Amino acid sequence: MQIIHISAECFPIAKVGGLADVVGALPKYQETSGISSKVIMPFYENKFTIQHLEELESTFIGEINLGEKLYNYKVLKLPKQVLGFEVFLIKIENLTDRPNVYGYPDDVERFTAFQKIVCDFLVNFKEKPNVVHCHDHHTGFIPFFMSYSMAHKKLQHIPSIITIHNAQYQGDFSYDKMYYLPDFNIENAGLIDWYGRINPLATGIKCAWKVTTVSSNYLGELQKVANGLEGLLRSEKAKSIGILNGVDSQVWNPSTDSMLKFNFNKKTINKGRQGNKEWLCNKFNLDPKLPLIAFIGRFVYEKGSDLLSEVVSQVLEKENKEVNLLLLGSGNPETENQLRELQNRIQGKFNTFIGYDEELSHIIYGGADFLLMPSRVEPCGLNQMYAMRYGMLPIVSNTGGLKDTVIDIDQGEEGFGIVLNPVNVHEICFAIQRAIDVYANKAFFKAKRKQLMNIEHSWDKSAQEYIKMYQSLVNIAQ
Ligand code: ADP
Ligand code: GLC
Repeated sequence: MQIIHISAECFPIAKVGGLADVVGALPKYQETSGISSKVIMPFYENKFTIQHLEELESTFIGEINLGEKLYNYKVLKLPKQVLGFEVFLIKIENLTDRPNVYGYPDDVERFTAFQKIVCDFLVNFKEKPNVVHCHDHHTGFIPFFMSYSMAHKKLQHIPSIITIHNAQYQGDFSYDKMYYLPDFNIENAGLIDWYGRINPLATGIKCAWKVTTVSSNYLGELQKVANGLEGLLRSEKAKSIGILNGVDSQVWNPSTDSMLKFNFNKKTINKGRQGNKEWLCNKFNLDPKLPLIAFIGRFVYEKGSDLLSEVVSQVLEKENKEVNLLLLGSGNPETENQLRELQNRIQGKFNTFIGYDEELSHIIYGGADFLLMPSRVEPCGLNQMYAMRYGMLPIVSNTGGLKDTVIDIDQGEEGFGIVLNPVNVHEICFAIQRAIDVYANKAFFKAKRKQLMNIEHSWDKSAQEYIKMYQSLVNIAQ
């Protein structure tokens, strides 16, 4: 069986968030299960691609139009030995050959052109896939093009899947750009529409043979609240399924992780974590005797990051609690400024690193005592799973995948985390106090850390669930 994943991100080639981690891990696990799994993504001119330029082999060239504008493109193949699966990088001149994944004013043009090229490429590709697996709205048109675009009809018998990593982002745009799409029978125009706009995520949900979400709980939540798509998700319920993400245990292994300052395993956890914690406290001017609570993530409303500055001020300025708070992230400029101001005011128990730093994130998972995730929306959440694998206790809101993966410490022996509900400053501060109390009981705290390292969140199980789904689609397609 041959699967092709299509995505805007894939670790370590280009990462903004968890989407990259999933698309960088799942194909690897599928390959080990004997399934040929490839990835198609845009070529970005970033550190990874510049370092690997010599390994990239040009396999296909062509041109694509968006209305009257023509763009030349190349499909570059990264051989299997580099990441454990083949990757095809689509380099569209003047569109994708830039450093960042998202955030350009012409993102609609970039990702529409990308999706058209993916389908042109697949039409010409000799090794036709058995299943095309799309990820998020940047690939949502593909199931539609495969079935209804005149140029891509050859692909109509290939089953397609769309995985929703985050329904907050839908990539919708107005009809004045409709001429960007390839020719299709206008009778099918309803499939690209959602309330008067062209909506790639809604299109993918309507046209894919199966819809998956990255946790079971998130699927149920989406049928109630999905940034306007809840009705659609209810009507497509029969073809939808939730499959929890996993952890890539080759990348996230505390005994071999080269980004950690001190490696450790279940036996050496206390010493290893202490070493990393001291390194962090030294670097960020924190007190190693106090519990260390960290946040890692994008500063966006969904992550609850707008509440962080008030939480820090409440906990450290108003209540002067005996705890360190360390934040790693970037995003909303207002949040960034508030945190910078706080950093000037509070020293010794608080620090923040504004930016993206993969290595620092690993050291935090390996050294800070608690991970704070006060998310309002969290389709799966990988941070809490990485934290758990490294023996770090999660403090999480009761939503999405967090609800599927974290059991409150007061729920009996199985419990290990601190669950807060609802998401507001008061509840986050209360959760922080609970963490301080847990930390004070050293023997209990250390036992919980070890317990966490025994929890299995590897991709093995979920990768099998996907394979089962592919198989059922292949049977239908035959
Ligand atoms: P999302 O995809 O919504 O951002 P996830 O929990 O699925 O959330 O995944 C986030 C991923 O991005 C994790 O690998 C996390 O460690 C990483 N990450 C987020 N922000 C940063 C940052 N500022 N520096 C380093 N890594 C980060
Ligand atoms: C999204 C979600 C996150 C999830 C990730 C990978 O970015 O916000 O919760 O873990 O995708 O599926």
